[in-house]
Amino acid sequence: MIAIVRESNFTKLCNTTTLLVVNDSYPGPEIRVRRGDTVFVNVHNQGNYGFTIHWHGVKQPRNPWFDGPEFITQCPIQPGTNFTYEVILSDEIGTLWWHAHSDWTRGSVQGAFIILPAENETYPFPTPDADQTIILQSWYNGDYKQIIDQALATGIPPRQPDAYAINGNLGDTYGCTTDTIFRMQVDYEKMYLLRIINAAMNEQQFFAITNHTLTVVAQDASYVQRFTSDYILISPGQTMDVLVSANQNVGQYYMATRPFSDASAMPPDNITTGIFQYTNSEGGLNASLITLPARDDTNATNSFISRIRNTNVTQNPPLNVPTGIDRRVFITIATNTVPCNTSQCLLPNRFVASLNNVSFVFPRIDILQAYYNSTGGVFTEDFPLNPPVFYDFTGNLTGFNTRAELGTRAVMLNYGEAVEIVLQATQLGGGGSHPIHLHGFSFYRVGSGSGNFNNETDPSTYNLVDPPLINTIHVPGKGWAALRFFANNPGVWFMHCHFERHSSWGMDTVFIVRNGTTTETSIRPPPSTMPRCPGT
Ligand code: C2O
Ligand code: CU
Repeated sequence: MIAIVRESNFTKLCNTTTLLVVNDSYPGPEIRVRRGDTVFVNVHNQGNYGFTIHWHGVKQPRNPWFDGPEFITQCPIQPGTNFTYEVILSDEIGTLWWHAHSDWTRGSVQGAFIILPAENETYPFPTPDADQTIILQSWYNGDYKQIIDQALATGIPPRQPDAYAINGNLGDTYGCTTDTIFRMQVDYEKMYLLRIINAAMNEQQFFAITNHTLTVVAQDASYVQRFTSDYILISPGQTMDVLVSANQNVGQYYMATRPFSDASAMPPDNITTGIFQYTNSEGGLNASLITLPARDDTNATNSFISRIRNTNVTQNPPLNVPTGIDRRVFITIATNTVPCNTSQCLLPNRFVASLNNVSFVFPRIDILQAYYNSTGGVFTEDFPLNPPVFYDFTGNLTGFNTRAELGTRAVMLNYGEAVEIVLQATQLGGGGSHPIHLHGFSFYRVGSGSGNFNNETDPSTYNLVDPPLINTIHVPGKGWAALRFFANNPGVWFMHCHFERHSSWGMDTVFIVRNGTTTETSIRPPPSTMPRCPGT
């Protein structure tokens, strides 16, 4: 694929905005390939500023050079230059997506990455008659990069979105008559596979179709045990494959999204609509808008998430040996302040976000290059910094150091280790939930709970039988979530909150998996085409 990236004008909410987009479209072009393929994408930057592209959920075995996060695995593709990504698929199947991975540019530089079964493979569910990509987005009247640049320069939180969108359409609830509504054309008695992507900047979303039941079949490009629900909950970064049967009276039905939040600062409670439209249906809508769970309905969120179970349980060691984990990492998640008396800080007591009270600072050259070439002074290999495991993170924080420090610290893992990470949300800042995404892996979500993680009792509640295999985990507000994986992909892999506001404030870290003992277990050599880092 050739991706021409440049500024284009879009009119929504009766307002014209200039956005950086791929091939003049918002969302950008869809990539559609088969399981196990390798995809080459030649990205031409004809825009005004540098950026990178990430293939969200593609593990890129031994191939971190093409993973994409800016200043983690590469430097930005500068205006007037181009770079070809080699995207290596392995066992991913279903729906993923691609997006810019530089500040907030992913708000407009994004698209679907569809992975069909291999030639001789079928779906483990009734073959759908057709499929339809549904990308959920946040819309701002304004350039995404400018919004975060201004917010970071002033130290105040970035503003909330002006609307949400489905495949670039705002629907009929915002009051601007020139806005378009997304229509999905369906034939009576046919079955459709919806490929739903939450590409919104900071908002988890409920999604539903009036009078139609949804059957969830995959999440994060991995099959799950089929279950039906009236709605789904999807976090930024997550993808979900859902079957829907056009089995109602021929007509037109609303599809709708609404944000979910359990934080104190809630996103705007806007319902965004689309239409599920049967062929040969004239006239108006058949039924009124479906009632979605309320914006703060934590029960609806938790009960939906708890129903997601893996189909393909391989019983590998991270599941079988709860005590045979080689490496356990405990990470607290917070939005807090950093005492700023250093030149790195813009303002005293700057607002930041952190993991284990370290607010991540992006280096000037990418960590992958620094690690590969043993260039010192770019990052340190000492994360996590002995976080207190036993503490009342969700209750009384007296005595807890609520100030973060700035740093560029990486977690070092040995090749092949069985790793468990416990993510603990705290009540600092807004106290809400976080969609934490890890590059380079799919991992098992083995446990989750409310309140403080209890090292004595909570591991015995883990699901070691059929936990979902995902790349973005919902850590509930004032609760915890645990995940496991094998460190079998050598490289430098970013981990961050997929709420862009949190990531740009420093809710990030890096996992470095050392090489194994053979070439097949080591990072591939870098391509000669890597973009040069500014100032080097
Ligand atoms: Cu969807 Cu670090 O990315
Ligand atoms: Cu977050």
